[in-house]
Amino acid sequence: MRKPFVAGNWKMHGSRESISNLLNGLSAQVDAVKGVDIAVCPPALYIDFVQSQLQGSVISVGAQNMAEEPVQGAFTGEVSVEMLKDMNCSYVILGHSERRSLYGETDAQVATKVQVALDAGVTPILCVGETLAERESGVMESVIATQLDAVLEKSGIAAFERIVIAYEPVWAIGTGVTATPEQAQEVHAFIRGKLAQADAAVAEKVIIQYGGSVKPDNAVELFGQPDIDGGLIGGASLNADDFMAICKAAS
Ligand code: G3P
Repeated sequence: MRKPFVAGNWKMHGSRESISNLLNGLSAQVDAVKGVDIAVCPPALYIDFVQSQLQGSVISVGAQNMAEEPVQGAFTGEVSVEMLKDMNCSYVILGHSERRSLYGETDAQVATKVQVALDAGVTPILCVGETLAERESGVMESVIATQLDAVLEKSGIAAFERIVIAYEPVWAIGTGVTATPEQAQEVHAFIRGKLAQADAAVAEKVIIQYGGSVKPDNAVELFGQPDIDGGLIGGASLNADDFMAICKAAS
């Protein structure tokens, strides 16, 4: 009953030339993918360019981050949610582990951004996940619960009707080491179960993507798990054939 959702997080990759080539490749193949929501999340600078290339396409566009401040102002280097809306962005990735670890984003800041995005009608893709050290020391569930609690406390369980969750184990991001389907399913079930404690109907409907070294050859098995509803794809989303193969695996 949940429609799978696959999004490409291009991170800080691309040029006008490489993006044109990638989008041409996606456009040539996307009609063959049925029953899957698809989005690409380019660097902010290229969002408008991507939108113009994707006019009339079923592929949606998202951003990779945004400011906590909802309106325009003296925040050098930042991009507001109103600007994302102005560029017709449907989604914004929030709380990616690279933002948390490299730029010091806290659970509280991520929760604020989620609420700001919701207020503006842009769907947050809320990333959660543990490091290898946290997994090995047995605190994986409490780390993920704390990340979710920050949003639950600020926005309430009903907000999750309009939030996509991405479970991204930090140790699997860009490493080529994927969580096994069983490892991923276990955490997805934990996330859904935690939300179900607050509202079973909301938990049943929330889309939970898996992210971390998803490739065409592991996507079918990952997406075949009962609580995995698609993926947030990094490296493989930069190759049209690979990304489309992953989207097909979710259908
Ligand atoms: O947000 C996607 C991500 O962090 C996973 O990256 O390169 O391991 O697919 P990658």
